Amino acid sequence: MIKEIGSEYWLEEPNIQANTNIAVEYFFLGRMALKAIIIELKKQGLRTVLFPSYCCNSMLSPFLEESIEVFFYDVNYDTNEVIFDINLINDYDILFATNYFGYKKSDMNDFIGLFLRNNKVVIEDNTHSMFIKNDYSADYVFGSIRKWMPTIAGGAIFKSKNVMESDKGSPDIEYCMIKKKAMALKANYIKKGIGNKENFLSLYNQFNDYVDTENRILNIDDYSRRVFENLNVEVMINLRKRNASFLHKQLKKMEVDTLFELSEEDCPLFVPIMLRNKAERDNLRNRMIQNSIYCPVHWKKPKNCQSNIYDLELSLICDQRYDINDMKRIIKVIEGEIN
Ligand SMILES: Cc1ncc(COP(=O)(O)O)c(C=O)c1O
Repeated sequence: MIKEIGSEYWLEEPNIQANTNIAVEYFFLGRMALKAIIIELKKQGLRTVLFPSYCCNSMLSPFLEESIEVFFYDVNYDTNEVIFDINLINDYDILFATNYFGYKKSDMNDFIGLFLRNNKVVIEDNTHSMFIKNDYSADYVFGSIRKWMPTIAGGAIFKSKNVMESDKGSPDIEYCMIKKKAMALKANYIKKGIGNKENFLSLYNQFNDYVDTENRILNIDDYSRRVFENLNVEVMINLRKRNASFLHKQLKKMEVDTLFELSEEDCPLFVPIMLRNKAERDNLRNRMIQNSIYCPVHWKKPKNCQSNIYDLELSLICDQRYDINDMKRIIKVIEGEIN
């Protein structure tokens, strides 16, 4: 059986090693942490946000649900760089800042400083920059934990200007057990070749459907919190850096464009490559799937968002589950497809 690369995490108990990246407050999902922050800011009378045009819908929807007026700043790709086009600082109450894929080069520290100096409120989404060294200067920092490791769910506020009293419900335990069962079945399938893929895929889907319809603010489940707090972060970071570094070197030789160059301080979530057009990106993605490699695309374009990144980007897998032989398989497919 060919080993699958990518997609949902399987069950893996953490090594007991305290993760120092401890949150101020945990939530079931990243979007719920953001919603708690927005509710707090609404109490202070804030009504408008300046938001990146390259984003995912789950970052945007909490603002829309809370009737905050959203204005976009352009985020576009230009030769190994992401360009932020931001002006008219005084026209908006809130700046929503973010980082892309765990590459330090896309941090928005200069803009964050500028907005803070103008007495604006800054929310930073650190979902992608969670494992980069950063003294967060934004007023509020939150992220989604579940993108990085085998948790059931997980989001958190990592920094908050003031103490917040979030009224949190409990997640549906039945759905949490469904996800945990899916992860256990996938672990058996990947590690021992036992079982049927359709079974765990349908369970993951059931959980994901539940998550997408849940818009209350919920607490994290105990299992996810335990995984996050006991993850050996250093090992994870080193494995990601090693895999990403290998991919970057090979991609350079093949003259495949990456969204960023890799630097020492980065901790990539994925290695984003940029293809010449959408057809080329989609063909490569499909070719990967035929080889049991599941690379996501970031993101499905939300309504009213414009950026040249959506159609061209493909996220190569580089996470801690994989070794250099797996990275070689990814490169081989790209070599066969791009010319
Ligand atoms: C950058 C970023 N922030 C926040 C979120 C929301 O996280 P969650 O899915 O845990 O609500 C996502 C989800 O894809 C994301 O990509």
